[in-house]
Amino acid sequence: MAVELTGKVALVTGGAVRIGRALSLALAGAGCHLFIHYGRSTGPAEETAAAAEALGVTAHTYSADLREPEQTDGIMPAAVAAFGHVDILINNAAIFEPGGLAEATLGQWEQQMGINLRAPFFLSQAFARQLPAGAEGQIVNIADARVLRPGADHLVYRLTKSALVSLTQALALELAPRIRVNAVALGAILPPPGEDEAYLQALAQRRVPLRRAGNPEMVAVNVLHLLRQPFLTGVILPIDGGEFL
Ligand SMILES: NC(=O)c1ccc[n+]([C@@H]2O[C@H](COP(=O)([O-])OP(=O)(O)OC[C@H]3O[C@@H](n4cnc5c(N)ncnc54)[C@H](OP(=O)(O)O)[C@@H]3O)[C@@H](O)[C@H]2O)c1
Repeated sequence: MAVELTGKVALVTGGAVRIGRALSLALAGAGCHLFIHYGRSTGPAEETAAAAEALGVTAHTYSADLREPEQTDGIMPAAVAAFGHVDILINNAAIFEPGGLAEATLGQWEQQMGINLRAPFFLSQAFARQLPAGAEGQIVNIADARVLRPGADHLVYRLTKSALVSLTQALALELAPRIRVNAVALGAILPPPGEDEAYLQALAQRRVPLRRAGNPEMVAVNVLHLLRQPFLTGVILPIDGGEFL
């Protein structure tokens, strides 16, 4: 039997724009109240919250810079203050920086590790601590399918997402049976900042066995599937059209 999502409270990091926005609206469509974290996208966060509320749920927005541990630490208490508790944590926010070992700098390392890994790690800890006794919770991490195959591109980003996959599996064990922890590992879903749809489609023709790109709604459908299926934990679900097989 599927897990009922209606009335649950979901916290989505980076939930205002792009894939995060699609996740927020899919959760709202499934009846979840939303705590939409964002960084700089104030206007889009308000717009996404309004679109969610039009679906009949309550939505709050909250800005925190995930590079800053103190700001990150403020997110879960703010969500608990707004809703009493949080049932679902979606770790979506991330940055995607090019470069290998030769180009890496300490600043770039710390920024990517902070946003892509430290924030999901400590948000997961805060999430587990606030979950009321007897309640069941869920975490879904948004990973990247490129880490399923060795490669040297986007090296620091790759390390953060590899660790996020390890974290997903470790927490699936540590937090069972109360909290299920899963991840989606994405391929070509949206063009990276600075590139357009034509770039994405050309890349898909070249590299994706299914010869098409994905889209944020496909990601959202699969995240809802992981949330609804009570026997799934520790799953790393590739959504990549076979690109990283
Ligand atoms: N796009 C793809 O095809 C693809 C492929 C593989 C994996 N993924 C993964 O899917 C997820 C979403 O991807 P996307 O392309 O939609 O991401 P995106 O457009 O780059 O959005 C990144 C999100 O992270 C937030 N963010 C970035 N830096 C932040 C900071 N310092 N503090 C707080 N929030 C911060 C942004 O919030 P604000 O805008 O509010 O600042 C934004 O919501 C990411 O985890 C990404 O790694 C995406």
